[in-house]
Amino acid sequence: MCGIVGGVCKNNITPILIDGLEHLEYRGYDSAGVVVLDKNNILSRARSVGKVANLKKNISHRKIPLLGSSGIAHTRWATHGEPSNRNAHPHICNHSVSIVHNGIIENFLQLKTQQQAQGYNFTSDTDTEVIVHAIHQALKNTNSLLTATQKAIKTFIGAYGIGVISPQYPGHIIATRSGSPLIIGVSKKGNFIASDQMALLNITRDFIFLEEGDIADITLNSVIIYAKNGKQVRRQIKTSTLKNQQISLGKYKHYMQKEIFEQPQAIRDTLESRITKKTVLVSAFGHRAKEIFKTIKHIQIVACGTSYHAGLVAKYWLEDIAKIATSVEVASEYRYRKPVILPHTLFVTISQSGETADTLEALKAIKKHRSKIYTLTICNCVESSLIRESELIFLTRSGPEISVASTKAFTTQLVSLALLSVAIGRCRGQISRLEETKIVSGLNRLPGLIAKTLKQEGQIIKLAKTFKDKFNALFLGRGSMHAIAMEGALKLKEISYIHAEAYPAGELKHGPIALIDKDTPVIAIAPNDELLDKLKSNLQEIKSRGSQMIVFEDESAQVTPMKSMTIVPTTTDLGRITAPIIFTIPLQLLSYHVALIKGTNVDRPRNLAKSVTVE
Ligand code: M6R
Repeated sequence: MCGIVGGVCKNNITPILIDGLEHLEYRGYDSAGVVVLDKNNILSRARSVGKVANLKKNISHRKIPLLGSSGIAHTRWATHGEPSNRNAHPHICNHSVSIVHNGIIENFLQLKTQQQAQGYNFTSDTDTEVIVHAIHQALKNTNSLLTATQKAIKTFIGAYGIGVISPQYPGHIIATRSGSPLIIGVSKKGNFIASDQMALLNITRDFIFLEEGDIADITLNSVIIYAKNGKQVRRQIKTSTLKNQQISLGKYKHYMQKEIFEQPQAIRDTLESRITKKTVLVSAFGHRAKEIFKTIKHIQIVACGTSYHAGLVAKYWLEDIAKIATSVEVASEYRYRKPVILPHTLFVTISQSGETADTLEALKAIKKHRSKIYTLTICNCVESSLIRESELIFLTRSGPEISVASTKAFTTQLVSLALLSVAIGRCRGQISRLEETKIVSGLNRLPGLIAKTLKQEGQIIKLAKTFKDKFNALFLGRGSMHAIAMEGALKLKEISYIHAEAYPAGELKHGPIALIDKDTPVIAIAPNDELLDKLKSNLQEIKSRGSQMIVFEDESAQVTPMKSMTIVPTTTDLGRITAPIIFTIPLQLLSYHVALIKGTNVDRPRNLAKSVTVE
């Protein structure tokens, strides 16, 4: 979604802002802009539709160079108003205040009407523009940019991360957040703001993570922070452990490809110090985990997109291994329902970013509930809002995931959820030592098994070529493999723009079989489990409709070869925990290579954002 970078520094800030925007490109956006306070103390702005490269070109063609030691910049993902120069941020009011904003101001129409009545002229269709006018209006009654911003934000309903500058207060940036993340990067070169660390890693590793409702007054040499209640507070400076090689492409062509191939290591890191040779360490979920896991009677999982699919797989494991009733729901639905919340429910949120607005709001809502409930977040980003809101936390440790299409975050979420199933199973006395040892040794084998599966890339490249002219595809699985089929279909949709559906194979006859013809490839997942024979019958049904079939099978499943069927022996002898994780890999590779053939923007597919921080 939108990205913010800004700062006050000793030298010209423009190259730092542009570099920051380039590092935020992965979040998804459709226009970009920058404003600096130039040497004549004038707000000097450039905005462009499309890539940051267009903005750079625009800046380089200016007669008067964009130079200044303080400024703010933005990548915009259109919500209110089309992608256009006039809607791109930063917005300016009367040459005297400029702002960048992430989030949505829900009451903007009401504020806009009031501001128009006060004489403000609107130059964009955005919700954001009310912010700049509100601060301008508040500045009329105070001689502090901080106070004016504090006053203005009191009138906003919605979510925001905001950066503000003004020629009346040169050398100051005001930064505030509520519902959208915002961090401060501190360094000897100056002090900076950004919507995430990636934007500033070339400048500093030292960050302050603003808390909900915080507002900061930032200058070259100082960062003063006030909490929501207006009192000055000290927030700790934390040193980021992110390394440059983690965020550079290295030998890979795309981040998605890099992240697919990083999975063996990512899973090793997820397992590190969370298991012994034979057991799962319950304390890995937090010091109260044992006591909580013994008490709970139900589990409610809430997440979005790929993380939701991880939750769907986990339902099978939790009910099977831990014998605990588990429901899974997409956050955007759950947060607006009036669900029956049973006492002693463990509410689990799963998220790569930890900033997904729907998931976060669902968690906040559930915490207001009076029943005895507990919360656990499984997340990849340690300083995220979801982590801060949760009682128990578990980090997936997959390292930064930059490609919009989630890959390593998913498989490490699955590993984390497998550990959770075993941990809860043990605390509830539902899993034998022998079974636990078997699962743990399966998990320990995973990095090696994935590395082996990745070697099948050559074969998958050949298969991908057959999708060149396809517009539809059907993914089939049974049991937990239905969720893996859903994930395979989502990946294909996201990056190759091929319409893909996933169905539990047993549902074919109830409707979707009508879609099957020779132009609709069917991708089936065939583990060697108790539903194998049923899946084989489903494949027969498809055969008689003449469709191209690709079957990723466990070698021991021995699917009978048929006309128009390609069988890919993916691996062999997998347990119920390892199987869904391994079968994910060829599906990721398939969608990646289909996207390459289709020539799409693999890492930044159209219309999508990496982290969906607005509704
Ligand atoms: O950061 P989160 O895991 O909460 O994000 C949830 C979804 O937005 C995300 O998984 C999305 O579906 C991905 N683009 C899938 O590849």
